[in-house]
Order: sequence, then structure tokens, then C-alpha cells
Amino acid sequence: MRIVVTVDGAVYTDDVEPRLLLVHYLRERLGKVGTVVGCDTSNCGACTVLLDGKSVKSCSVLAVQADDRAVTTVEGLAKDGALHPVQEAFRETHALQCGYCTPGMIMSTVDLLNENPDPDEEQVRHGLEGNLCRCTGYQNIVAAAQDAARRMQGTQAEDAR
Ligand code: FES
Ligand code: FES
Repeated sequence: MRIVVTVDGAVYTDDVEPRLLLVHYLRERLGKVGTVVGCDTSNCGACTVLLDGKSVKSCSVLAVQADDRAVTTVEGLAKDGALHPVQEAFRETHALQCGYCTPGMIMSTVDLLNENPDPDEEQVRHGLEGNLCRCTGYQNIVAAAQDAARRMQGTQAEDAR
């Protein structure tokens, strides 16, 4: 089947098998290897991307379901050489160890903060419950999400001036 999909701002037209998973399309066709496979059973969230702005586990979505839609991967967040505030917050707050869960954690955090720009700790934990991390114990990930919220509010306040 032919699909036309926008990924990280670029438009791609491709013929794909109907059974091809979005995560495999992103990694193997487009070389977007920043999106990773952690489990292949829809449990870990490492493969999370945004589909029309909403987080999805790309191992549980078919590439054909992205037809005529926009996908954002972790590789599409930085702008003009500057990290996205959520990426910056994860780096500054030491919210990763091995880093395998990090692309998915970051994409889910972006979605969470789009929905709720100022979440409390419980809301962050609830918002990220579909993403598993086997290294960090989550404390710094929660701190990073709240730090990112402050950074994004600061950016918006500056933009409004
Ligand atoms: S690889 Fe998609 S949820 Fe684990
Ligand atoms: S940092 Fe290793 S799985 Fe999260």
C-alpha cells in the first residue's frame, strides 16, 4: 500500500506491506533509529512517538495507519540546534542511566505537558505509567518532567513579552 506520511517535518511517500509496524518503518525505511524497540509486546513504551501530536507506542501501530498523518520522533524535537526543553531537562536532571527508555520517556513527557502544562508528581507518574525504566527508579524522571514544565512555562512567558 502506498502511504504519504510526514515524519519530523519531512514528507515521505512509500510503498509498504500492510503488516509493517510503524516502528519498523521509522527505523528500517527512514533510518530514524532514535526510536527504539524495547519489548515488541506494547509494554515498555520505548518506541513512543507522537502521531498527530498524541503519544502512541509505534510497535502497536501499523505504518499504514500513519498515512496522511504527522509523526514526530525524538529526532524531530530539537530546533535550530537547540534541544527541546524536555530533552534539556532530562539531561540536566540526570534522568537516565542506560538511556534505552529515554526516547519514549521524552516523547510521553512532551505529550503529558501538552495536556497538562503544570503536573504535580502524581500526575507525572500517572502520565508516564506506560513507560518502563529498569535503571533509574523513576525519581529523576519525575523531577525532569516537572523541570521541563517550568522551562516550557518560562519559554512561553518570554515569548509573550
Ligand atoms: S517496543 Fe513498543 S512498547 Fe515496548
Ligand atoms: S535509563 Fe535504562 S531503562 Fe531507563
